[in-house]
Amino acid sequence: MSDKLIFAANWKMQLGPAGASAFLVDYLSSYVARADREVWIFPAAVALSSVVERVAHTEIRVGAQNVHWELAGAFTGEMSVAMAAEAGATATLVGHSERRHVFGETDGETGKKVRAALEGGLTPMLCVGETIEQREAGETMKVVVRQLEVLRGLEPAALARIVIAYEPVWAIGTGRTATPTDASVVHAEIRTWMRAAGAPAPTVRILYGGSVKPGNVADLVSEAEIDGVLVGGASLDARSWAHITGVSLD
Ligand code: PGA
Repeated sequence: MSDKLIFAANWKMQLGPAGASAFLVDYLSSYVARADREVWIFPAAVALSSVVERVAHTEIRVGAQNVHWELAGAFTGEMSVAMAAEAGATATLVGHSERRHVFGETDGETGKKVRAALEGGLTPMLCVGETIEQREAGETMKVVVRQLEVLRGLEPAALARIVIAYEPVWAIGTGRTATPTDASVVHAEIRTWMRAAGAPAPTVRILYGGSVKPGNVADLVSEAEIDGVLVGGASLDARSWAHITGVSLD
């Protein structure tokens, strides 16, 4: 529904500065900016600066995978929004399912991170999605709406800056993908929620994530409700990522 699709790579705890640079030498040798799409990369914190440097002459956006909500202080192991921005990030993932399920991040914390990112000038990409047990219990929308509730109270201009990534937990890294139709149903409900919360209608961007691959990306992004994809495993290989970001939209 947005005029530009977003193809976002989440490298997780893979590719340090050297690996990221080698990837980009390879990927950029065939990269061509296209008017109908944006490419975003979320490298590990330690590789942010080298990725920013490598893509400086392109329109590729670089984001952090996680930030802390406080401005600064005694938070060993954490990175502030200002530090990510200083390294050249313009966005950050918030509430990725691994943050929620492996590190116990709560909705309260994701809400604070979204607000800190907005205040510090980063685009928050809020990740939402249900587990397999929740899906089988028919609780998908209940869970997703609870995760969206952290946005309640934000001004329309702030809501307009947020990107949502719908990532069913059971589809992440498993090879199981939601069908384009199943994903569209959830996207439509997220869009309805965002509009009701005050987001200006045309600005809401909702990506799908979970086992996106060169072989299924075209079907996913051709759905009107899917404004792009957030890709883990298949974004780690430069050829595979070139295939995904170069997919034909005809
Ligand atoms: P995957 O990961 O593409 O490897 O399933 C997606 C994500 O976790 O963002």
